[in-house]
Amino acid sequence: GRRVTVRDLTAAKERGERWPMVTAYDAMTARVFDDAGIPVLLVGDSAAMVVYGYDSTLPVTVDDLLPLTAAVVRGSSRALVVADLPFGSYQSSPQQALESAARFMKEAGAHAVKLEGGRRVVPQVEALVSAGVPVMAHLGLTPQSVNVLGGYRVQGRGQSGDELMADAKDLERAGAFSVVLECVPADLAERVTASLTIPTIGIGAGAGTDAQVLVWQDLMGLTPRPARFVKRYADLAAEMDRAVRAFAADVATGAFPAAEHTYS
Ligand code: KIV
Ligand code: NA
Repeated sequence: GRRVTVRDLTAAKERGERWPMVTAYDAMTARVFDDAGIPVLLVGDSAAMVVYGYDSTLPVTVDDLLPLTAAVVRGSSRALVVADLPFGSYQSSPQQALESAARFMKEAGAHAVKLEGGRRVVPQVEALVSAGVPVMAHLGLTPQSVNVLGGYRVQGRGQSGDELMADAKDLERAGAFSVVLECVPADLAERVTASLTIPTIGIGAGAGTDAQVLVWQDLMGLTPRPARFVKRYADLAAEMDRAVRAFAADVATGAFPAAEHTYS
């Protein structure tokens, strides 16, 4: 079958169907999520933290993310693959945004890009869309701005909620095909969702958005101290700890390898 398209996602909103998005950074996990029918895979700049071990998303570069994106595209066959534009790869100008997006599409095969920010990135969104690049926007807690926001905290409370609503409408008007709402009050996310024809994708934004996204290591229980908005659907850290300790013990005793693992 064919890949999911941005039009499929708008059509799902019209039908009132909610959908899931998860991050992926390599071919094997991409294949598992793709086979499970996850329609959109995000190669997030969260790779800075969960793949590369940095303590924010700021250090990661286009060159760091390109091979991960290519792996996710190769590992999937049905999902729409969205590449995050990392910090410093699009803010300078619409031209810089287009050059970065073109690399993700030409060198890695990404189908869309995501960037952070409201009205200040509208020129970038317009340039990308007119060049044929589908754009996912990202409002609320935008981790690339953590040093301005003063930490990873809830956004859009009170007066700033009206600004977030205006940003969302401007991004839709600029041609974005969807918008991530991160760490915002549920009632604000619900109002934004009702005001837009493009889908909203929530993370820490309550149950009223059109879609939900989680970082896969959060949802699988690999990250040590997940945020309040994370639900763990597996405890992979415990399972991997058990397995690698069992392997180590079998190596120590000589129980592994057994006859069936051995060539005569
Ligand atoms: O980088 C990322 O994983 C993200 C999602 C959490 C939306 O931007
Ligand atoms: Na991101």
